[in-house]
Amino acid sequence: MEYDLAKASAIAHSNIALIKYWGRSAKFPPELNMPLNDTISMTKRGVTHDTALTTHTTIEFSPHLDYDEAVINDEPADERTMDRICFIINALRKQVKMDWSFFLRSYNDFPTQAGLASSASGFAALTLAATEALQLNVSKQALSRIARLGSGSACRSIHGGIVFAHRGESHETAFAEQLCAPDDFDIAAVIAVVDQHPKKITSDVGHDLAKTSLFNDVRIEQSQIHAIRIKRAVLGKDFATVGQVAELNCLMMHAVMMTSSESLLYWQPATLAVIHRIHALREEGIECYFTIDAGPNVHCLCQYNDIERVQQAIQDVKGVLKTFVAIPGGDAYITEAHLF
Ligand code: PMV
Repeated sequence: MEYDLAKASAIAHSNIALIKYWGRSAKFPPELNMPLNDTISMTKRGVTHDTALTTHTTIEFSPHLDYDEAVINDEPADERTMDRICFIINALRKQVKMDWSFFLRSYNDFPTQAGLASSASGFAALTLAATEALQLNVSKQALSRIARLGSGSACRSIHGGIVFAHRGESHETAFAEQLCAPDDFDIAAVIAVVDQHPKKITSDVGHDLAKTSLFNDVRIEQSQIHAIRIKRAVLGKDFATVGQVAELNCLMMHAVMMTSSESLLYWQPATLAVIHRIHALREEGIECYFTIDAGPNVHCLCQYNDIERVQQAIQDVKGVLKTFVAIPGGDAYITEAHLF
């Protein structure tokens, strides 16, 4: 392929898992990030704090560049992130038989230091921008597979709405697809930020510890059942079942984390205080549930009409630094707005 200009930009939303990915399958090389179970997520679009909860990425390949370089939020990418970026880019360069170096610039519009994960939106935006720059005409399924090579949860951020990721029996069959469009299921997340510091043990490291927990096998087995139940409930517009199963699945992941060696205890006192407030809200008749990723911040799942009441209640909890609201967001997309 001859390139005049191999440059493109893309934007992708982050996502919150309703059925969690925790632990890579030992049957495959670790760099493939093959999950142990099917997962389900909500792609997030922020509606407060002027944030869309997205990553915006521009990449350019050029014969005039001497080396590969990535700048994220105005800082050079760390070594591990650079390795993961290059793992994806090298596979694409090989496919198009091109050896030009790249320059990449990326911004997350998450509230600064909110302690929210950006790897999912980051690798989804990178995958879309890079395939566009190299004029590779790839399907959404292929984009999802490639994004997974950056981080397991990124395969889901290619799609909007509620997304189902197949654990797959091979690299080819482990990809995500949309279960329902953003407007087709009434769900929102009120996010309680209780700690803004980067976590000590990243999920990248945590995935390798999952197998040391005695609860790991039962979590995997149950997650397959949970995925079927949530899928059915989403299609049947049954929010209560989605919330109940998502909450249980989250607790099972944290049980694995806490009982792995070394033990991962991501919760802070305020995490627990928010959980108790959510229980109390339920007793007051508000349908709401919690889910927590690999960190102390809590996503409170509720329906659109309850957002205000839930947000008010959660932001009054001691130790909650800020709250903001996300609703289902759209697919990752190409933009003409280049960052350089
Ligand atoms: O994609 P990673 O490697 O950042 O792992 C994500 C792990 C969790 O956020 C805890 C769960 C999930 O499925 O997103």
